[in-house]
Amino acid sequence: MQRVIRIVGIGGSSGTRSTVEQALRVCLDAAEHMGAEVRLLNGTELAMPLYRPGAEAVHGHAARLLRAVAQADAVVLASPAYHGTVSGLVKNALDHLEELRDDSRPYLSGRAVGCIAVGQGWQGAVATLAALRDITHALRGWPTPIGVAVNSTAVPFGPEGRCEVPHVQEQLTLMAQQLVEFARARQALLAPVTA
Ligand SMILES: Cc1cc2nc3c(=O)[nH]c(=O)nc-3n(C[C@H](O)[C@H](O)[C@H](O)COP(=O)(O)O)c2cc1C
Repeated sequence: MQRVIRIVGIGGSSGTRSTVEQALRVCLDAAEHMGAEVRLLNGTELAMPLYRPGAEAVHGHAARLLRAVAQADAVVLASPAYHGTVSGLVKNALDHLEELRDDSRPYLSGRAVGCIAVGQGWQGAVATLAALRDITHALRGWPTPIGVAVNSTAVPFGPEGRCEVPHVQEQLTLMAQQLVEFARARQALLAPVTA
């Protein structure tokens, strides 16, 4: 009997109607429809002091992030393009994952990681997507085959949270499918063999 797949989405901005959070939500909603248990840590929940290696006290938001990632079977990282790369808010949150270096699954080991980047143009979105995939590799995660770059000037999200551009909705749904499939396959692979 397989356990429910847990997916944590990390991303957003401090803006009130964050396009990054909307894109992330589309992916997580799709994963939920596929039977996953999902959790979104948005821009507000990623607000935490600058990461300081060796600091004794861990901010409440950072502690929650570390717990959610440590328990997750798959992760989605989502960031706006800020000056051609990942925003400081998202990068600082990811810096905190250094605290998982001695975990039984260090950093993002063993987890499929979907990456989503949103910019007000293609150049920044694509560069940011590449940066998120590089960060995933550095943290020993497995980037999903599909990564999603979104140009927010061309891709509106409807009030229902659905993306009004079908191919972006499809890409975010495909990402969810790849996350769930990888997590389920890995769970099956590592399950104890019964005689
Ligand atoms: C400080 C700052 C820097 C930005 N730099 C870029 C950029 O280099 N390239 C780009 O395409 N968009 C850039 N943008 C636009 C954001 O990436 C875009 O508006 C994104 O949708 C914001 O995400 P949000 O709606 O979740 O806040 C920048 C926005 C801000 C506030």
